[in-house]
Amino acid sequence: MNTPIVDFLEKYTASDTVRCHMPGHKGKNGIYRYDITEIKGADSLFEADGIILESEKNMSMLYNTKASFYSVSGSTLCIQAMLFAMKQENRKIIAVRNAHRAFINASALLNLDVDWILPDYRTGILSGRIDLQQVEDKLKATENGCLYVTSPDYTGRMADIKSLAEICHRYGAVLLVDNAHGGHLAFMPENMHPIAIGADICCDSAHKMLVGLTGSAVLHTSSEKYARILRQCMSIFASTSPSYLILASLDLCCKYIDEKIKDDILKNLQYISDFRNDYKGLVLSEGDPFHITMNTAKYGYNGNEFAENLRKNGIECEYSDDNTVILLMSPVNKADDYTRISEALETSFETTYINNIPDMPFLKKLPQKAMTIGQALYMPCEEISIEHAEGRICASVKVPCPPAIPIAVSGEIIDSSCIEIYRRYGIKRVMVIK
Ligand SMILES: Cc1ncc(COP(=O)(O)O)c(C=O)c1O
Repeated sequence: MNTPIVDFLEKYTASDTVRCHMPGHKGKNGIYRYDITEIKGADSLFEADGIILESEKNMSMLYNTKASFYSVSGSTLCIQAMLFAMKQENRKIIAVRNAHRAFINASALLNLDVDWILPDYRTGILSGRIDLQQVEDKLKATENGCLYVTSPDYTGRMADIKSLAEICHRYGAVLLVDNAHGGHLAFMPENMHPIAIGADICCDSAHKMLVGLTGSAVLHTSSEKYARILRQCMSIFASTSPSYLILASLDLCCKYIDEKIKDDILKNLQYISDFRNDYKGLVLSEGDPFHITMNTAKYGYNGNEFAENLRKNGIECEYSDDNTVILLMSPVNKADDYTRISEALETSFETTYINNIPDMPFLKKLPQKAMTIGQALYMPCEEISIEHAEGRICASVKVPCPPAIPIAVSGEIIDSSCIEIYRRYGIKRVMVIK
């Protein structure tokens, strides 16, 4: 596959041109040489008709989409753009609650009034099963709706996108998927990418499961109508100075996908399957295999202590809490990585103190709503200890990343169960309305 952005950068870098243009570092050293602005021939992200468009078309062909648009501001920008498109159509947003804070912030900026679906949580707020009947009941009662789902979620659990798409389309609703964790899914032995199985719009963070630089993401659509407007929707929120380093990494992502990803995925699926067999019971068996989610509490190990012991043995986890440790693998991991993880796990079993660990709490019902997310964002607010927060209205959400999944969202009244969840997730202070 050709790499038009990288080729242009290499040619320009080799030309020894005096750079009488931005950026101020003038490309004097190392990787800075590739960091350019929209000079002639370099195209322009939000008016793309040259090398960027060519590269995006490569991406679109690989994912078999109607159109794919590059983001240098992560899936966060893609989520803002997809919600903006829904707002233009005056659609009512129905969203599954374990959404990333990027969704909450975008909803606040766009002053959207979100209708939540609580998933059937098992342990903690990261993951839960979506009840299809509940989705159908909501959509039936919503005239001009859209459904927002996070899949894979932080633990790797995947929603039944095919059925959700079928239900959405039956009621004239649009299916939006936060597929930030699922850019590789199109190249699994069975294509499980949201666009392939019915989603209308989805975002993939190329920096999470693919080989893009941090900040790289792609907004995909299967719809002719949204293909025409999404670039403009993105431009509303984005910087006018997109990073060519990040764009070049998306270009290289296409090449990697075209030439190597399927083989790499097959190799890793074998390593992961062997690993899972060795640690049956500890590793959750459902969902995306590249998310190795371990229920350490089941064996009496506190996940945070376990993760600390893994760290001492050279393994840095994606996420841990009292119950769970998540290792996030990708197609580029090598056999040796799994060997090192196994060795570190064995040491951690020996060195982590065994105790009785209560399950992580989760929301059993939605907190009472005092105002919309958008109204809450613009009210005067203050930061207080969670110990004094009962009865106060949540202002902007301030939850640590990872997992960046909110407990009470802006405009909701913080109740005692929210406070218990804050405590267990180590959140000590919250923003509330004055
Ligand atoms: C589920 C989910 N959605 C969206 C995002 C935001 O993605 P990005 O960091 O690419 O902006 C994240 C980031 O962690 C995420 O985990």
